[in-house]
Amino acid sequence: MNEFWSRRTCVILTGASKGIGQELAVEISRLLIPDSAMVLIARSTVGLENTKYMVNKENKDIFVEYYSVDLYNSNALMFEKILEPIDQLKYELYLLIHNAGSVGNLDHLAADMNDPDEWNRYMSLNLYSVACLTSVFLAKFNTKKTEKCIVNITSLFGIEAKQSVGYYCVGKASREMYFRVLAKENPTLNILSYSPGPILTDMTMQISANCKDQKLREEYKIIRERDWVKVEDTCKKLVNVLAMRNYQTGSRIDYYDV
Ligand SMILES: NC(=O)c1ccc[n+]([C@@H]2O[C@H](COP(=O)([O-])OP(=O)(O)OC[C@H]3O[C@@H](n4cnc5c(N)ncnc54)[C@H](OP(=O)(O)O)[C@@H]3O)[C@@H](O)[C@H]2O)c1
Repeated sequence: MNEFWSRRTCVILTGASKGIGQELAVEISRLLIPDSAMVLIARSTVGLENTKYMVNKENKDIFVEYYSVDLYNSNALMFEKILEPIDQLKYELYLLIHNAGSVGNLDHLAADMNDPDEWNRYMSLNLYSVACLTSVFLAKFNTKKTEKCIVNITSLFGIEAKQSVGYYCVGKASREMYFRVLAKENPTLNILSYSPGPILTDMTMQISANCKDQKLREEYKIIRERDWVKVEDTCKKLVNVLAMRNYQTGSRIDYYDV
């Protein structure tokens, strides 16, 4: 492709066991040059093993390692151990993709979201683990010579309030703001928040089946009938956006943006 993908790259990808993360791993593997590496993170060992198989089927010349980890219970030490075997000098590009995420408790409307433990649990996965892994990543790959790129998989719901998915909206909004602050403090980093459009995955099935707001369920029904974005199309779009680098660090790009 172009310069971005023509370097020996180490990709660290969360939420790699299914859905968008699994397809993204496969899409990226088609572009990586030999001696690149991928570190896959999620809970499901079976899902991760499948992703590894799919990646190496596309590209046998890249090294794939996976870690079954529950990001509801993460800490810096855990991430340090995961990144420990990666050589800080071997790769020209270190690419961290925060894709793991959850919708949260769909029984609660905003006025009912009164349990700090529930909030903490939700934010542990969707914000705290993201900030923690980012911090460990930046500390580990701190040489000036290599490029560090961080992708935050975000959502329209991070900028548009939707009824009955309060945890999700707040989680995505806060995560985006974290990366905007990080970009402001570190202008040489390459940071992108990418909103992939509506994709048929376990997560969207869960929202369309269980959210309390009838309007949102209807919206998903209409999308289901005609407007799903194909998962491979959104992943292709993301790898192209990264290659073109036509965005300001810290900003957001949506699948539907030109
Ligand atoms: N689908 C859409 O329409 C859409 C739209 C906008 C944004 N997004 C975003 O895209 C990302 C991927 O979503 P998806 O639709 O592909 O959902 P999905 O199919 O439910 O996949 C979610 C991924 O996150 C991982 N994950 C969830 N909880 C985890 C935990 N506690 N610890 C470690 N990993 C965990 C899951 O792996 P395990 O279950 O194996 O742990 C899985 O790999 C999310 O950030 C989502 O918000 C999706």
